[in-house]
Amino acid sequence: MAKHTCLMIGGGGMAANWIRIFTNDFSDRIEIVGLADVNTDVLKTQGDALGLSTSQRFIDFNEACASVKADFCGIAIPPKFHNPAAIAAMENGMPVICEKPIADTWGAAKAMVRTAQKTGLPCAIIQNYRYADNKQELIRIRDEGRLGGLQYVVGRYGCDFRRYTAWGEWRHNMDFGLLIEGSVHHLDMLRFLSGGDCEILIGFGWNPEWSSFKHYSSGFYLMRMDNGVHSSYEGNSSAAGMEYCWNHEYYRAEFEQGTVEIAGGNQIVIHRVGSEMEVYAAPPVRYEHHHHLFDEFLNWLEGGEPSDTRIEDNIKSFVLVIAAMETTVDGQPKQIADYLSDLDL
Ligand SMILES: NC(=O)c1ccc[n+]([C@@H]2O[C@H](COP(=O)([O-])OP(=O)(O)OC[C@H]3O[C@@H](n4cnc5c(N)ncnc54)[C@H](O)[C@@H]3O)[C@@H](O)[C@H]2O)c1
Repeated sequence: MAKHTCLMIGGGGMAANWIRIFTNDFSDRIEIVGLADVNTDVLKTQGDALGLSTSQRFIDFNEACASVKADFCGIAIPPKFHNPAAIAAMENGMPVICEKPIADTWGAAKAMVRTAQKTGLPCAIIQNYRYADNKQELIRIRDEGRLGGLQYVVGRYGCDFRRYTAWGEWRHNMDFGLLIEGSVHHLDMLRFLSGGDCEILIGFGWNPEWSSFKHYSSGFYLMRMDNGVHSSYEGNSSAAGMEYCWNHEYYRAEFEQGTVEIAGGNQIVIHRVGSEMEVYAAPPVRYEHHHHLFDEFLNWLEGGEPSDTRIEDNIKSFVLVIAAMETTVDGQPKQIADYLSDLDL
């Protein structure tokens, strides 16, 4: 199989992680042939390391999309630039794999869905936390009915970001940083673990006096899914005691015949009334996190199944962030179907 050429938009932060994975672990399948980053130091360092000529380095991603004819475009820059970068890439004929969240606004996200549909090009969104040993094992417990039916799932996220810039400066300055940058992972995970799409979402958000964020750092949200499973979410970027920070988020699934708890690592804990607690290591998955998503996306480009987190599906997770923002503002329950009604999904 020939290598897939890639135009990479973003070179530092998470994008540096992508480039490291591409060059270390996917060098037989991916070749970066263009790089765009507004930071000229990043552009030079990464461009030199990748052996790119000056004509393959760009400050402006629009120019990059118009000049580089790559087999796909990878996008790992802040959310407000996802829409213009992804649309420019698809309009120039390139499939896209893009970091979460889809975009920074509902309108921007829907425009990306429509561009993917209009061009017919693959567009996948990163939801790396789904692809961990313990999450996949919980899905098997559910799907194989090992503990009977599933009643509800609880998700908890708490990070001690009380120091300004602890979570990257721009996240402390933006509106709804918790929801747009953080909860987008957790609401997607609750959708994934519950096995249903959300029908109704309601909740609250707030900013404690001592928060290092200009906007809400914390919130509680409840969802009823279309398969009858309920879920609750606790998000706290001002955590001062118990932390359930990145890769250590806590999920508890209440089944008919037992309760399953997962958090960091690959441990599965099962509680049953009248029995000893059962603790075991979840069987390893072949590829974890971003590796899984890159492999799945390349397989899609090669004629395989579309990515599970393709934009037409992931919009059903991103809409939960938008609904959570709106219920936070007006205190009203949000019917998710109302948001999706003008999309052809
Ligand atoms: N999946 C995950 O676990 C995870 C973790 C962290 C970040 N992210 C996501 O990755 C994306 C980037 O976040 P980050 O923390 O790496 O951000 P960042 O601020 O570190 O920026 C990443 C790079 O993008 C460049 N950049 C910024 N604006 C640009 C523009 N307009 N054009 C070209 N380059 C530009 C920056 O110079 C930097 O090199 C976000 O969508 C974020 O949500 C995902």
